[in-house]
Amino acid sequence: MRVYLDHNATSPLRDEVVEAMIRVLRGIHGNPSSAHEEGRAARAAVDRARAAVAALIGVQSDDVLFTAGATEANNTALLGLLGRCSGAAGHLVTSAAEHPSVEAPLEALERAGWRVTRVGVDSEGLLDPAQIEAAIEPETALVSILWANNETGVLQPMERIATLARERGIPIHADATQAVGKIPIDLREIPVDLLSLSAHKFNGPKGVGCLIARGDLAFESILRGGPQERGRRGGTENVAAIVGLGVACDLAQRELPDRMRDYAGLRDRLWEGIQAKIPGVRRNGSADRVLPNTLNVEFDGAAGELLLQALDVEGIAVSSGAACHSGSIEPSRVLIAMGRSPEEARGSLRFSVGCGNDTEQIDCALSLLPDRVASARQAVSA
Ligand SMILES: Cc1ncc(COP(=O)(O)O)c(C=O)c1O
Repeated sequence: MRVYLDHNATSPLRDEVVEAMIRVLRGIHGNPSSAHEEGRAARAAVDRARAAVAALIGVQSDDVLFTAGATEANNTALLGLLGRCSGAAGHLVTSAAEHPSVEAPLEALERAGWRVTRVGVDSEGLLDPAQIEAAIEPETALVSILWANNETGVLQPMERIATLARERGIPIHADATQAVGKIPIDLREIPVDLLSLSAHKFNGPKGVGCLIARGDLAFESILRGGPQERGRRGGTENVAAIVGLGVACDLAQRELPDRMRDYAGLRDRLWEGIQAKIPGVRRNGSADRVLPNTLNVEFDGAAGELLLQALDVEGIAVSSGAACHSGSIEPSRVLIAMGRSPEEARGSLRFSVGCGNDTEQIDCALSLLPDRVASARQAVSA
C-alpha cells in the first residue's frame, strides 16, 4: 500500500476533474478566440470555469486571469509592477518566509533598483501586522504576503494585513496557492487586490492556475503577443486544464467544510500518534493558525533526507525540511526564518494529508515511523 502524505507538493486529480477534461479533449477542439461555433464552444467552456473560480474566491469573473500555475501568477503580480510604474523603481514589503516563486522575482526587482523590506516571522512562523505597518514607506508600491505557508501550513493574519495596506492605498498581493481549496477564501470580506492560486494543489491538473486581479488594477503583461485574457496574458488558453481547474473549484466550494474536518482529524491523529510513540519531537509552526491538512515535525537529531528515503521505501511519501542543491543539503529557508538551526531544519519532515487518505493509512505511517526515526538519528550520530 502506498500512503501519499505530500498533498502540499501536489494532489491527485479527482475523477470528476479527469472526466470533464476528457470531455474537452475529445469534444471541444476550437480556439476560444475564434468567431465560429467551435471557437464559441471553447470560449463557453473557459468562461464557465472562470465563473467557478470567481464564485469560490468571491470575486467577479472579469477579475480571473488564467495562467500556467502559481509561479506564473506570482511572477505576473510582481514583475507586472515594473511596467505599471514606468520603470521607476520603488519599494516593496514582503515576508522573510515566501515561496521561491515570489522570492526570485523580488530578487530580480532588487537588481533593477527596487528596495524590498522582508519582515521577519516569529518562532511560530507568524507575521506581526504591526511590523508590516512599520515597514510601509511613502514609496511602497505593493505588499506581497504568503497566505498559507507551503512547508508549515501557518496562516498569516491576512485580513489585518490587507486592511492596513488598503487603508494606506497600497495594493496587496497574496500567494494563496496552499490556502485555496483547504480553507475558505472570500475576497468580498478581505481586501486583497491580487491573489495567486494553482489547480494542482487542490485536486485539479498541473500547469494551470490564476492570478486574481481585482478592479482596474493595471499591470504589464509578462506574456505578450496575444489578445487573450483581455490582453493581460498572451497565448492560446489551455482549455482542458482550465475546465479541470473549474471543476476542482466547484468541488472545493461544495466540500470545504467536510474537507477541513476530515483533514484536521487525520492530521491530529498523526501528530498525537507521533508524540505518543517518538521522543524528542517538536511541531514547527503555530498549532492554531495553520492549514487543516499540514503538520511539520522536527525529529530532534535525525537526518530528514534519510528519513524521507526510508519512509519512501516503505511506501510512505512525505517531504523534508531540507533540499539537495548541487550535491549539498540546504536547510529550509522558512524554518531558518523561524529561528531553527540548520540541524533542526534538517531533521524536519512535512506531512500533508488530502483526498484519498484515511485513518488506516495514518496508522500505517505511525507503525513505521518510530523505527525509521531511530535509524535516521543513528545515521547522524554515527
Ligand atoms: C505557496 C506556493 N506558491 C507557489 C507555488 C508554485 O505553484 P505552481 O506549481 O503552480 O507553479 C507553490 C507550489 O509549490 C506553492 O506552494
